[in-house]
Formats: sequence, structure tokens, C-alpha cells
Amino acid sequence: MKFSIKTLEKTDSTQDVIKDLGAKGTPEGAVIHALEQLKGRGRQGKVWHSPVGNLYMSVLLRPECLADDVPQLAFVSGLAISAALETYLPAGHVKTLKWPNDVFVDGKKISGVLTETTLVRGRVDCVAVGIGINVSAPPEGAISLDTANGRENSIEGLRDTVLESLARHYRAWQNRGFEVIRAAWVKQAHGIGEPIIACLPDSEIKGIFRGVDEQGWLVMEDRSGNERHIKAGHIEFKSQ
Ligand code: BTN
Repeated sequence: MKFSIKTLEKTDSTQDVIKDLGAKGTPEGAVIHALEQLKGRGRQGKVWHSPVGNLYMSVLLRPECLADDVPQLAFVSGLAISAALETYLPAGHVKTLKWPNDVFVDGKKISGVLTETTLVRGRVDCVAVGIGINVSAPPEGAISLDTANGRENSIEGLRDTVLESLARHYRAWQNRGFEVIRAAWVKQAHGIGEPIIACLPDSEIKGIFRGVDEQGWLVMEDRSGNERHIKAGHIEFKSQ
């Protein structure tokens, strides 16, 4: 995939800019990178604090897939970020993927992904893949790349490495399907076998994290020993 990158000094959210471009028919591969966001957003309506010093970008994709399969792109992106970070982290650091699409280093969040889909007449028109990576200004409790590898990392260099990795993983998903992505993701999954609380819009389920199914849904064993598959929400580990 060929990327066409536009860098903005500041904007409310790169997601809004890329979605506007998508609505205008801009081809796949457009990227909006902002040095700072004034209204950065995370999953589930959360604010994504976006001061100067971290990577904030949104990528426009036009996957030929069903709307139900779009959440798979979060796993594609999480894996791509993880692979990109590989070259940045010295041995000894532990990188994990937390369902559905966070990247952790040494047990702390370094990156998050937000996918937003535009449907036209019920079909997927485009997907805005928003990627945030803490480089030098992490929020409280999170980790930055600069802290993890003890140097000053170039945000542009990281952006290009992540995009190259995203293109590779996206191609693998298109050509070989979700199973290869799922299997690679599960190998790096944060906390398989550990107690979790799955937080759903109107309830919580306690149990043990078992993995991810062929659709990307969370698989857990609830306290009665039943296997539960959960489509959307977030999970908390006892140790967090
Ligand atoms: C999360 O972990 O909740 C997802 C965070 C996604 C943040 C990125 S930063 C670039 C893009 N623009 C936004 O407003 N959000 C995403």
C-alpha cells in the first residue's frame, strides 16, 4: 500500500480529518499525522490526552470485508504496532497485547488503537484506524518509548516504521485471512489464564481469560465454568 502522509501541527482529532477525507472519496492509504490533538479520543468515549511529544495518526483503509469483520483490523493494527516496536526495544522488555487493541510494555500501556467505520448503504465504505503511541509524554500510569529504551526517539521515524508494518500486516490479513493474525496475536496476548473482569456496557463478568475466538471475540471462562464469548467491551486484570 502506498501511503500519502499529511502532517498537521494541531487538530481536534486526526480521526475527524481522515473521516472527512474518506467521505470525499480519498483513496486508501491517506494518513493524517498531528503533532498535537485538542480533542483526541480513545475507545468507549474516553479522552486520549494528546500533548506534543507522542505519535497521533489516523490511516484511511477501504477493506473489502463485511462490517462484522472490521474489528479484526484492531488486531491487525495492534500486531503491526507490536512488530514495529520490536526494533526499538532492547532485550529484556516484555511486550504484550491486551484485548482488544492495546499494546503494553513491561505491564504498562504504550499504545492504543481506535477503529471507526463508515458504512454506506450497509456496506463498509472506509475505516479510520487511529493510532496513538506514547513517545515522550505518557499519561499517568502509562509508559513511553523514550523511557522504555532510554533514548530520544524520532516520532516521524516511528510513524514510518509503524506504517510499513501496518501495510505488511494488512496485506497478510487480506491475502491469508484472520486466522494468521489471530494466532500471532494470541501468542503475545496479555494475561491468558489470569483472572479478569470483563466490563460490558451494562454488566460485568468475572472469570478467567482464555483467549480470542475466530472472530476476535474475547473468550473467557466465567465463575460457573461456562465458556463465554464477548464481542465488545474492555477487560481489567486483578493486577491492574
Ligand atoms: C484507546 O486506547 O482508547 C485508543 C486510543 C486511540 C488514540 C488515537 S491518537 C490518533 C487518533 N485520533 C484520535 O482522536 N484518537 C486516535
